[in-house]
Amino acid sequence: MKKEELVKALSQDTDPAPFFAEADRVRREEMGDGVHLRGLIEFSNHCRRRCYYCGIRAGNAKVRRYRLTPAQILDCARTAARLDYKTIVMQSGEDNHWGPRQLADIVAEVKRETGLAITLSVGEHTKEDYKLLRAAGADRFLLRFETSDRRLFSMLKPDSDYDNRFRCLAWLKEAGFQVGSGVMAGLPGQTLESMADDILLFRQLELDMVGIGPFIANPDTPMAGAVGGTLDLGLRMVALTRIVTRNTHIPATTAMGSIDPQGRQKALRCGANVLMPNISPKEHRVDYSLYPGKICTNEAPEQCAGCVDAMLVSLGRRRASGYGHTLKSIEASPR
Ligand code: 5AD
Ligand code: FES
Repeated sequence: MKKEELVKALSQDTDPAPFFAEADRVRREEMGDGVHLRGLIEFSNHCRRRCYYCGIRAGNAKVRRYRLTPAQILDCARTAARLDYKTIVMQSGEDNHWGPRQLADIVAEVKRETGLAITLSVGEHTKEDYKLLRAAGADRFLLRFETSDRRLFSMLKPDSDYDNRFRCLAWLKEAGFQVGSGVMAGLPGQTLESMADDILLFRQLELDMVGIGPFIANPDTPMAGAVGGTLDLGLRMVALTRIVTRNTHIPATTAMGSIDPQGRQKALRCGANVLMPNISPKEHRVDYSLYPGKICTNEAPEQCAGCVDAMLVSLGRRRASGYGHTLKSIEASPR
């Protein structure tokens, strides 16, 4: 699809039903009916950055900060293995406390103990540090570029550099990670043109995974009271990303489920093939509030597992077998 076609398809004046059906067809053809479950561990909500949209930004005094111990992280990973998840996603703010070596040690231990696929989502680091984490046994890395609009990016992320973000994505690929990125949909000032660019960038970057969620204004941030993204826009982005990138892993994100009780189900029916049930300890879940209304903050890991399995049954889908590695060809490291 060309940019103009994407812009048109993103517009509210276009009926999305035909391309939602097309996205569902492409998903079935390329990814099958299996849905990969990735257990999400939010292991620290300390963050040195001040992104305007994010609830755990530095300086938000309302956040009760926590950091799991390596033993607690390992415990979460064991829970994931017990629930028969094949991948864990270790996500945190950009927490200075964890030096790359410490993080690498934890990754190595989790890998040794559980043999699970490990995805990291820990922000911007140096090329050397990425290599260290990869060597320790991390398989994948998520780093959303959030928006392809350079001006909007620097407005929303005043202490980050647009070019460095993309440099990091290139370094991650070079280090042999399967790389995921993504954006928020419906940011204030975000145009349909820039969202079409987002989608074209997903393809250009040959991403292995792409996560998309609606922007949800957080009252404890500078964006309090801003108009948020809609489910409809998020779904259009998911569907068009599926059509354009073909065999990329696309999650039905927590943010989708948070703005609409059927959000994740709908995403799974127009392109998504991954779910990321939370396996963080229950007592810390509310403290990882990137945005208000986040689902699963009152559930234990077992409850989310039961919930997503029931969801799959209701959709006529099933858990995918295997690790759910990338379907794109990887030169750096055969698996
Ligand atoms: N609304 C929606 N998504 C958000 N994220 C952070 N803050 C918000 C918000 N207010 C997303 C960002 C980040 C991911 C972990 O969560 O895209 O990369
Ligand atoms: Fe957590 Fe549904 S996935 S309650």
